[in-house]
Amino acid sequence: MAQRKLAALENQSLRRALAETERKSVGRARRDRQELISFCCNDYLGLSQHPDVKRAAAQAIEELGVGAGASRLVTGNHPLYRDLENQLARLKGTEAALVFGSGYLANLGIPPVLAGKNDLIIADDLSHASMRAGIQASTAESRFFAHNDVEDCRTILENERNRFDHCLIMTEGVFSMDGDRAPLVELCDLADAHDAWIMTDDAHGLGVLGGGRGSAVEAGVADRIPLQMGTLSKAVGAYGGFICASRAVIDLLVNRARSLIYATGLPPSAVASSCAALDIISSNEALVGLPLARASQFTRELNLPGPESSIVPIIVGDAETALSASKQLAQEGFLVTAIRPPTVPDKTARLRFTFAATHSEDDVFRLTAAVKKIGLLP
Ligand SMILES: Cc1ncc(COP(=O)(O)O)c(C=O)c1O
Repeated sequence: MAQRKLAALENQSLRRALAETERKSVGRARRDRQELISFCCNDYLGLSQHPDVKRAAAQAIEELGVGAGASRLVTGNHPLYRDLENQLARLKGTEAALVFGSGYLANLGIPPVLAGKNDLIIADDLSHASMRAGIQASTAESRFFAHNDVEDCRTILENERNRFDHCLIMTEGVFSMDGDRAPLVELCDLADAHDAWIMTDDAHGLGVLGGGRGSAVEAGVADRIPLQMGTLSKAVGAYGGFICASRAVIDLLVNRARSLIYATGLPPSAVASSCAALDIISSNEALVGLPLARASQFTRELNLPGPESSIVPIIVGDAETALSASKQLAQEGFLVTAIRPPTVPDKTARLRFTFAATHSEDDVFRLTAAVKKIGLLP
């Protein structure tokens, strides 16, 4: 049975495999004995390799060991969590914050607690798989609006909001595969008008937009989004997920979020390195501005529309073309993974370029030359 399913994936160019990849220095990767400049990593600020961040992790291991040993509600709530949650709440301007084992676990655990029977969840159709997992785990009814289509969201609210007790609108601050931003001001207006909660997943905004504080700050609505979720695994360079919200919401999640309660706490090293990385993010505006500057250089040189984030996709359509383009770029010395369905909708397979502070202008210049050479753009 497994063989048959794998063969079907292979036939559609949709079979995936884990490719061994070393990331020893920032912005570079080694795969198949080849040294490549990586343009497909979410370590937007290179903090996974920053000496202060690595030192914080090493010190935490020395002092507290390598694992948390239990769920945070048993004995896994080591003292570093307090510092990290205070730091996150300060950065996002909320009363409190709660750290989960990963961004996926946060998104899986939060919606079922905040929306249940007689409630409605309305989410962007391109919401990340982890948000969909959380929506599926909730007993609330769910609807999806066309990507970034405020009018579609409004229509759902006007037609259906009255039938439900509570309503939760969910979107990404920056969409992970498209790099565009959600219309946060308009969605906040809708949430206000229809007595709905709004939750953003800002996995790709933190450390890049709003002076590093994320897409809500960039859009000027930080105080209007009561549920701000994010991850410590991308620009922060470490591992873990979180939500910033009111103290009451955080306390309720501690009591009810199954992916927090029934999972082991993060290793102390992940928490300590996140603290050190957030210190850098909140104090180094020049560094934080670099990913978008590099993405802008890329789009300018290729005459593409300006970027809204550090992510720029080039959509090629079918999976086979995307795989072949990725291979050709590897031959030119660049690592850019092909993104295929079901991660993206059918017929929108793409190369997803991500730009980081660790790329030089010359790296980007050479990448654009390679993109032109392989004829990726019409
Ligand atoms: C938008 C979005 N949300 C959530 C996640 C999950 O975060 P993590 O990798 O920390 O589990 C990701 C990463 O894949 C993401 O892109």
